[in-house]
Amino acid sequence: MLTDEFGRRFFYLRLSVTDVCNFRCNYCLPDGYQCTGAQARKRPLSVAEVRTVVRAFASLGTEKVRITGGEPSLRRDLPDLIAATSGAAGIRRVAITSNGYRLASEIDRWRDAGLDQLNVSVDSLDPHQFERITGHHKLEKALRGIERALELGVETKVNTVLLREYNLGEYHKFLQWVQATPVTLRFIELMRTGDNRSFFASNHVSGGDIEKRLLRDGWERLTRHRSAGPAREYRHPDYAGRIGLITPYSKDFCADCNRLRMSAQGALHLCLFAEQGIDLREAIVGGDHRALAELIRAAVSGKTAGHQLAGGRAGATRNLAMLGG
Ligand code: GTP
Ligand code: 5AD
Ligand code: SF4
Repeated sequence: MLTDEFGRRFFYLRLSVTDVCNFRCNYCLPDGYQCTGAQARKRPLSVAEVRTVVRAFASLGTEKVRITGGEPSLRRDLPDLIAATSGAAGIRRVAITSNGYRLASEIDRWRDAGLDQLNVSVDSLDPHQFERITGHHKLEKALRGIERALELGVETKVNTVLLREYNLGEYHKFLQWVQATPVTLRFIELMRTGDNRSFFASNHVSGGDIEKRLLRDGWERLTRHRSAGPAREYRHPDYAGRIGLITPYSKDFCADCNRLRMSAQGALHLCLFAEQGIDLREAIVGGDHRALAELIRAAVSGKTAGHQLAGGRAGATRNLAMLGG
């Protein structure tokens, strides 16, 4: 098992398979932002290379892999990437985070390839507002995709970044939807990046305010399993779904960190907000998963206690956009 000096155990890999995203969410990729530089120009890891990465992590105790992007469905070989991941000995759960763009047409194939869990971004339930935030009028398609995922029995969560000027007014609409829909909808605190400073100032909403509303309205906070992800979850007897809160600005958010990240080009990121990745591409392309595992084990000893968002530092835009959060 991969562990660090703070007693954290890392059994969860977030694997980005492309830097490219076809949406332009106003909080993530501001107008005109380009993912450039040497990293972005390299081709993303192939299916065989992803297999080597996953085997290396699995040999170190990784049990869950979440495939992210950019937008992972822009890879036409995504079903092969899912199959390569779910087929690795030791991997128990394969998940995807997607913007929902191709969900309705692809989810059956992803399921057949071995997908267990799905997270979909839905930042508004109003088609016009959805388009204002994402630059696309694909709300209906995303909702249809979610319905199909639920029919297929895929555990589905929804991500909603809280934005004061765009969707905070839809709070009751989101809850109404969750009343009838068995998903876990997570409200996410907007994170500050180098490129969204003024947007952050006018749109950041504290998760604490939302928690107060939920508790007042009869929602019960669930005990969090130590191995759970960053979300705190709430349930209500009258609702089919659940609500989650992801609050990276809260104290101790990083104390239970269970995850490592690999960029689409093969750089290991020890934290979402680490300035630099550790380039492991040569070892990955070499194909020897045992040698790669040793490099990963050595690198993890350098992981810091946590991020410094609360100290006013911003995350790099490219990390959120290219590592898929
Ligand atoms: P599961 O626990 O597997 O469901 O994943 P998740 O909820 O972490 O996944 P998802 O990809 O849906 O991410 C949801 C939000 O959480 C995104 O805004 C991510 O940026 C944020 N997030 C996920 N992991 C971390 C983390 O380690 N640090 C910080 N600061 N934010 C994270
Ligand atoms: N703050 C919070 N969440 C973000 N995401 C992207 N950028 C940010 C940000 N600055 C979210 C997306 C998606 C998830 C993978 O990360 O909305 O749901
Ligand atoms: Fe872990 Fe970094 Fe995320 Fe904190 S911000 S939970 S240390 S990856």
